Amino acid sequence: MPSKQELLKKLNEEMAACSKCALRAGCSRVVPGEGNAEAEIMFIGEGPGKKEDELGRPFVGAAGKFLDEMLASIKLKREDVYIANAVKCRPPENRDPLPEEAEACWPWLLEQIKIIRPKLVVFLGRHSMNRFFPNEKISEVHGKLLIKNFGLNPDGSPKRQHFLALYHPASALYNGGMRETLLNDFQKIPKALEVAGKK
Ligand code: URA
Repeated sequence: MPSKQELLKKLNEEMAACSKCALRAGCSRVVPGEGNAEAEIMFIGEGPGKKEDELGRPFVGAAGKFLDEMLASIKLKREDVYIANAVKCRPPENRDPLPEEAEACWPWLLEQIKIIRPKLVVFLGRHSMNRFFPNEKISEVHGKLLIKNFGLNPDGSPKRQHFLALYHPASALYNGGMRETLLNDFQKIPKALEVAGKK
């Protein structure tokens, strides 16, 4: 039985060879995600920006620096969690992905979640949240635990998956009020993880 790390490595290789949508032709490299394959918490951002596209790693620009600070505030390091994006290739000029681009990338994200089996999925921003909860508004549900059947348990029964939606770190960089809200919401992660662990 291959380990989660081995499965992710193979998946990353498949993602690197993906050309299911037009984004791949316009970006420098695929940014599959990184972190601990055994993580209990998986963060899902929107898509790579300029710096991420250059380095092939998620959240390594200004928003990523803020994410690292917030992780440290709850005594976590990047190596403790898994960080991925809803879309793995940088859209030109950082525009929002088109519906068909987001759709083409969705199976990769599903496969990542299936392998990692995180107790808690944390959305970074409304775009990634809306992939999973199309009818929710981030202004209403940020910082709240969302629970629904998503994926399967190893025995084939439906999995009760716990999700926490946060504002995107980039949106909080230059807005003091938003920054406070995000920092506050971030402090809810340990409790959310505890609740998720109890099922
Ligand atoms: N913003 C995102 O949503 N993802 C990244 O990887 C970087 C910035």
